[in-house]
Amino acid sequence: MWRVFHAFFCFCLLLLDGVSDVYSDERGISVMEGDSVTLNTDVTELKKDDQILWTFRFNSSETRIAEIYKQIISIYDNKENNERFRDRLKIDEQTGSLTITNINKLHSGLYKLQIINGDVKHKSFSVAVYALLTVPVISDFPQSPSVSERSSGQNCSLLCSAVNVSHVTLSWYKGNSLLSSISVSDLSISLSLPLELECLDDSYSCVVSYSFTNQTKHLNTTDLCRPCPDGQSESVKHLMIAIIILLLLLLVISASAVLMSSRRRRKQSTQETRTTVEEVEYTDAMITTNKAQDSETTGQNQTEYSEVSFR
Ligand SMILES: *[C@@H]1O[C@H](CO)[C@@H](O)[C@H](O)[C@H]1NC(C)=O
Ligand SMILES: *[C@@H]1O[C@H](CO)[C@@H](O)[C@H](O)[C@H]1NC(C)=O
Repeated sequence: MWRVFHAFFCFCLLLLDGVSDVYSDERGISVMEGDSVTLNTDVTELKKDDQILWTFRFNSSETRIAEIYKQIISIYDNKENNERFRDRLKIDEQTGSLTITNINKLHSGLYKLQIINGDVKHKSFSVAVYALLTVPVISDFPQSPSVSERSSGQNCSLLCSAVNVSHVTLSWYKGNSLLSSISVSDLSISLSLPLELECLDDSYSCVVSYSFTNQTKHLNTTDLCRPCPDGQSESVKHLMIAIIILLLLLLVISASAVLMSSRRRRKQSTQETRTTVEEVEYTDAMITTNKAQDSETTGQNQTEYSEVSFR
């Protein structure tokens, strides 16, 4: 524990030193424990007489860790101060780039490069090594009822946790959109972020991330949360309600149309009856007229008769 703290403390000093150093080209490099990192010279091909010198600064003392001189590669990973680099350094003979494999926190610090080929070029790399990031854990929220106890109407409460982390952000995502997040910049602590869902309607994931890398845990449909019933999303519900209202409206309209047409038909039939009465009356009148005509005819006949009788 003391060792780790000591290393961290020194790392801070190194960073401060790095800032005060006037280097035209200083690059910050973040890397996760266990990974490999390559510090590039940006030289495409070294010439025969080019000299490459790599140094590492630790505890205000600078030690040589690797060099190429007259095309001979030397790696100093067994000197007193360089135990930490044992079997971890590789230098590319064409470019002079330095690779540190299986890196750990003790390799955090300032790496300096000198390229000597007539004139002298300086570069430096501030390497920050971050703790290994493990996949976050999604669990049932401790206070909520267990899955089996949970009735179908209840929500599921989830908790995403990352233990012993620093300089990370913990986030919940729904598909690709961020739902919530929490960050920590202190020394290692445990982080938790809750999420409450009615049911599982999309792919949810919990992501723990450094600025340069991340680890993701997906929430499986079968775990912890039951899936939403098919087609029961809010918009579908609204659509269903709209359709039902429309259908009811149509029903009311058609019912009133039927009612009105039947009433009209009844009115029509009364009118028809009335017409029949008028016709009857008219017929009566016709009959009367006919009678009159008849009598006239009779009269004519009589006249004719009288004429005849006159002769
Ligand atoms: C269920 O979760 C939703 C948010 O997803 C929330 O608005 C609601 O209040 C919760 N209901 C209960 C009973 O906790
Ligand atoms: C996680 O890292 C990958 C690359 O390693 C990146 O493409 C992705 O966007 C990152 N995701 C988040 C949520 O940061």
